[in-house]
Amino acid sequence: MKICCIGAGYVGGPTMAMIAHKCKDHAVTVVDINQARIDAWNSDDLPVFEPGLDDIVRANRGENLFFSTDIDGAIKEADIIFLSVNTPTKTYGVGAGRAADLRYVEKCARKIAEVAEEGKIVVEKSTLPVRTAESVKRILESNCNGRKFQILSNPEFLAEGTAMQDLEAPDRVLIGGDQTPEGLAAIQKLVDVYAAWVPRERILTTNLWSSELSKLTANAFLAQRISSINAISALCEATGADVDEVAHAIGTDSRIGPKFLKASVGFGGSCFQKDIYNLVYLCEHFGLPDVAAYWNAVIEMNDYQKHRFSRRVLASMFNTVSDKKIAILGFAFKKDTNDTRESAAIYVCGDLLEEQANLAIYDPKVSSEQIHKDLGIDSANPYVTICKDAYEATKDAHAALILTEWDEFKALDYQKIYEQMQLPAFLFDGRNLLDLSQLREIGFEASGIGRG
Ligand code: NAD
Ligand code: UGA
Repeated sequence: MKICCIGAGYVGGPTMAMIAHKCKDHAVTVVDINQARIDAWNSDDLPVFEPGLDDIVRANRGENLFFSTDIDGAIKEADIIFLSVNTPTKTYGVGAGRAADLRYVEKCARKIAEVAEEGKIVVEKSTLPVRTAESVKRILESNCNGRKFQILSNPEFLAEGTAMQDLEAPDRVLIGGDQTPEGLAAIQKLVDVYAAWVPRERILTTNLWSSELSKLTANAFLAQRISSINAISALCEATGADVDEVAHAIGTDSRIGPKFLKASVGFGGSCFQKDIYNLVYLCEHFGLPDVAAYWNAVIEMNDYQKHRFSRRVLASMFNTVSDKKIAILGFAFKKDTNDTRESAAIYVCGDLLEEQANLAIYDPKVSSEQIHKDLGIDSANPYVTICKDAYEATKDAHAALILTEWDEFKALDYQKIYEQMQLPAFLFDGRNLLDLSQLREIGFEASGIGRG
């Protein structure tokens, strides 16, 4: 079969690379309007950093995996077309700040309707509000000239940083489609693609709306767990309980489970916040304000946590950070990715810049251009310096803040760091990565999230 994917981003690139890798019989073409991105996919410097991605792209590119800007050509040839374009929060008009902006998805549907010469299977890979397939179908069928399109929902559950592992051995693959003979046949075609490497019992099939809604619900539940443990972290700090001990104690209950209970400076990433806002908007749209308020609280708690962390830094440092050098260790929203979208670091740095601190920022994978862009400053801004490593960032600093849980921060020589910092030297571990008692033995005024 010929497979086309529109959107060569964090999802389209890795997902299609895995399909091409596992299904040598299918030719997979990933297309995008962004020429620079496609050029990067065709180069040695891929636009997405994911452990294991380079090897898979290198092994399959030019064989049965292609990256191109010829969108029309790829649509014409394809039997199955994945839509993997971005669905950010709308910033204008009705639903601004909450609803998903579906203009990119709609443009793709219109493009397919315009250029496809025969019927196709169109797969929603992007995260979409429930019932989007209805609009996609109407656009495709409004001028169909006898062509028959089948719309499937196949949301992606990969997490950044572990994308290749998640794609190779997913907990489940979810495929929703019309429960008609044609719909079921289309579902079966996509099941057959994944069945090349995913055990059949892990491939779930549902109706369209269940599949679309399951994606938003999964992200809302995951984010809710983080907000729940972060809420408890504030109570731990007030009472002397240790949030890691509490998380471990509750996580051993098999009904609760141990994952996603790591207290932090707040969840980031391109999806949790946008998808919950999307859910909140849908609930309001369907006349369910109490349900909307319930899920909105997950985001409010996350905002509280990010700013609570900054306030704690300020309070510990004698209520002033003005003119003090503060080392920021980590800027990505989690380890093993170069993605900074909605990273907690952006908010913490923003709070500290308002207090006129001097920030020395180091991240192993995020470029200085990206950091300047995220902070809304230009490279000449005297308050922000981008450093080449953690030692440079902490030299003569009054405090060090760990904001991303990069493994290399666990292996730093903290004795050396302490000796080159201003005294008293503060260390705020926003990811509970380090052993606080060891840091305190060195001489640091050290604190973590929910650990006193
Ligand atoms: P992204 O911004 O990295 O990539 C989207 C790509 O689509 C961009 O390169 C953009 O140029 C391209 N595009 C937009 N409109 C286009 C058009 N009309 N024609 C051709 N190309 C077009 O986004 P992403 O992170 O890959 O996310 C894509 C979708 O997957 C979103 O709905 C997101 O919620 C969902 N998702 C993301 C993740 C993740 O970890 N990032 C995980 C699961 C699901
Ligand atoms: C998340 C989901 O985990 C994926 O299943 C989903 O496909 C994806 O969103 C999406 O739809 O985009 P991702 O955002 O890439 O994946 O990464 P996560 O591992 O979920 O981490 C999100 C944020 O939560 C990070 O800032 C992370 O540091 C934080 N986090 C995670 C915690 O603070 N505590 C935890 O216990 C776990």
